[in-house]
Amino acid sequence: MMRVLSVASECSPVVKTGGLADVVGALPAALAAEGVEMRVLLPGYPQVLRAVDRTGPVMEEWDLFGGPARVVSAQAAGLDLLVVEAPHLYDRPGSIYLGPDGHDWPDNPERFAGLCWMAARIGREGLGGWQPDVLHCHDWQGALVPEYCPRTPGERPGIVLTIHNMAFHGLAPPSRVGSLRLDPWRFHAEGYEYWGQISALKAGLLGADRLTTVSPTYAAELMRPEGGMGLDGVMRRRREVVSGILNGIDEDAWNPATDPAVAAPYDSPEGKAPNKAALRAEMGLADAPGPLCVVVSRLTSQKGLDMLLGVLPALLERGGQLALLGSGEAWMEQAFRDAAGPSVAVRIGYDEALSHRLLAGGDAILVPSRFEPCGLTQLYGLRYGTIPVVGFTGGLVDTVINASPAALAVGVATGLQFHPVTADALHGALSRLCDLWHDRDVWLRMQRNAMAQPVGWAPSAKAYARLYRDIAPVR
Ligand code: ADP
Ligand code: GLC
Repeated sequence: MMRVLSVASECSPVVKTGGLADVVGALPAALAAEGVEMRVLLPGYPQVLRAVDRTGPVMEEWDLFGGPARVVSAQAAGLDLLVVEAPHLYDRPGSIYLGPDGHDWPDNPERFAGLCWMAARIGREGLGGWQPDVLHCHDWQGALVPEYCPRTPGERPGIVLTIHNMAFHGLAPPSRVGSLRLDPWRFHAEGYEYWGQISALKAGLLGADRLTTVSPTYAAELMRPEGGMGLDGVMRRRREVVSGILNGIDEDAWNPATDPAVAAPYDSPEGKAPNKAALRAEMGLADAPGPLCVVVSRLTSQKGLDMLLGVLPALLERGGQLALLGSGEAWMEQAFRDAAGPSVAVRIGYDEALSHRLLAGGDAILVPSRFEPCGLTQLYGLRYGTIPVVGFTGGLVDTVINASPAALAVGVATGLQFHPVTADALHGALSRLCDLWHDRDVWLRMQRNAMAQPVGWAPSAKAYARLYRDIAPVR
């Protein structure tokens, strides 16, 4: 049995701000089917400590970047967790990343260095007889692990780093080299130094045995200056060990036939009608002569929804409607609140159950992202027969079959892509959407194709298992 410790800052359903949590929460079950025993190492935020059943303290650390800590094994929602209890780092109210002023907690570098430090110790010493063969680290928050491990492969577990979002580097000023317990001799361009700063992400990109990201197209984009967010050179240097492994979704939680959150569970496109009526009633929307478009998203510039604000009048003119659920940047929240009206329903906030009802009731889901490493909501759209309209970028390229004339002719389309990712092209896509929606036979065919597209974890779980086997030390 291969043993893998997953090292992450979020894990669904215990603590989530985005898709990272879904992936980290889904991998253990998906990989169990491949003979991998995976535990997840998480920071002991208050919401984590409240959610878990602790089974005993297992590892003590007298000084974890400024205070005592211990790792406790715990269970929650069928997951085997290891929780780093370190009140000085994690016991604080509000967002897991941001202080009350809306900025990163000033000690974020130490907070996640603490997570990585404990991961490296578990890798070295094992824990209660459980010795991981591989440390699977996620994003910059897990990326310092190689810095804290012995540098000789074979003397440590294999290390995989998965990039869910290259936009976040985990930077810290050089004055923190000592407090982060980093080797000062590695503060240079071939090490973790990045334009005069410490970059946790760069440390991981250089130190891990294998790098993965969450779609093949994003893997290719990361090698190019336009997509590499300043680290494309490092990615090109490590090209040989990079792979793109597509995310799946939890097919039990996101199953329209059994979903307890939706008004009328269904297993074919015809079954969506009562859910659409219920959604309209819930959101205060009347019947309309065009498609009901939905959005479930963080409201940040990555997601491109500012472009939607500009082209919304054109959608409404064609008889379309919008129902949006999201939260994020204050100006965008306000702009959507201001756009609300008889054909535009806006809910600012985070609401898991409503997100399911939007997917069940919508005709189309809009994902106009400027960049998107993988994206999960377009996959929910496919499963729910809710046609995705997506920017041509990252995982959105890999998961949606565009309704081009050729794809329509052979009857394989599952959604609409627009290129380049601009407001004009989004405008064009929404206009195409309205045309297709009126052609009932074509629309139904697309919905059937979408619902039949595999979106589960099985193939990607196999790919991860293969990767782990490649780098696990021979014991
Ligand atoms: P990202 O991780 O970049 O935000 P993903 O598409 O990978 O994008 O994942 C987003 C996840 O967060 C999905 O599970 C989506 O349903 C969920 N989500 C985003 N915003 C909300 C919200 N306001 N309410 C409920 N769920 C949300
Ligand atoms: C990140 C990306 C998103 C991806 C998710 C899970 O949050 O923005 O595209 O689906 O991670 O990998």
